Amino acid sequence: MILSDEQISFFKAKGYLIVPGAMAQDQCEKVRELMWQGLPINAAIQADDPTSQIGPFKTTDESTDTRHVRQGYRWLNRFLGVSPEVIKLIYSESICAMATQLLGGHLRQAVANGLPMGSYGNAWPGGPTDPATGNEGARGVYCTLPYGNRAVEPDQCHTDGHPFQLGVVGLIGDCPQDGGGFKVWPGSHERLYPTFALRYDQPRIPYYEHLPSYKGIAHSPEYLQEIAKLNEELKPVECWGKAGDIVFWHHRLAHMAGHNYTNTLRQAVLADFWTTDLDALRGTPAQGDMWRDWSEQVQQCKGGYSTALAVAQRL
Ligand SMILES: [Fe+2]
Repeated sequence: MILSDEQISFFKAKGYLIVPGAMAQDQCEKVRELMWQGLPINAAIQADDPTSQIGPFKTTDESTDTRHVRQGYRWLNRFLGVSPEVIKLIYSESICAMATQLLGGHLRQAVANGLPMGSYGNAWPGGPTDPATGNEGARGVYCTLPYGNRAVEPDQCHTDGHPFQLGVVGLIGDCPQDGGGFKVWPGSHERLYPTFALRYDQPRIPYYEHLPSYKGIAHSPEYLQEIAKLNEELKPVECWGKAGDIVFWHHRLAHMAGHNYTNTLRQAVLADFWTTDLDALRGTPAQGDMWRDWSEQVQQCKGGYSTALAVAQRL
């Protein structure tokens, strides 16, 4: 499986690309099984009982371990991000070949049975877990429990603060519309890129408990303005689909974890791609051609695509 010129053009123009059927069904099933096997023996949530999967998690099932979070509606198994099965699935030869078609250069290699994301806890007290710290594999298997009777909430986009170049979300179970699929703001990568000081990183301010107004990351006023505009003006695209479908997304693309208003558990593997040049590139200025270190094919394509492809991309 390789990407066509048209798919690459779409990715360049919109900052994301859904690739249906990129992961093998039997491997998706195997990882779904591992997710259930990772629970405590007496867990109330059960694989064969969809009613038990409606969120939030029962207090007795909760876990605040940053390597295996079960809280509210989120179930994040980061231990599995370094399991050989997940690495085989999301860093497969064909997915890595597609990532290389986009990024060029040499991909960083994941380490099976290495350190999982969350090994050093949160980035600061009460803060998020930094996906770039102590993470030798994928981010992990991320599930969103059905919301049940929880009220409908507005969509709010963000960008990720840690350095990488290309993200991927791979559905390991069918995810219907409104079922918590990854949401993207198409074209936002081009609008947000120039609002950053650094190409693949951003300035950080140490967090002090008695001086709480800065929480780690310093955003430019231009960035905050653009995020507000995106939330007001642009309708996100929801990457729903079948087990085996993946979506590639650009590092600077605005996105969010979708809300799950269905009765189906949303199950996905999240992973990052970057090249061995990332350390040299991350602190260079985010000005000029945003594609200058991507593949020749990406740099040369013009960004045209058919209506049929746009429809398949949920645009
Ligand atoms: Fe994010």
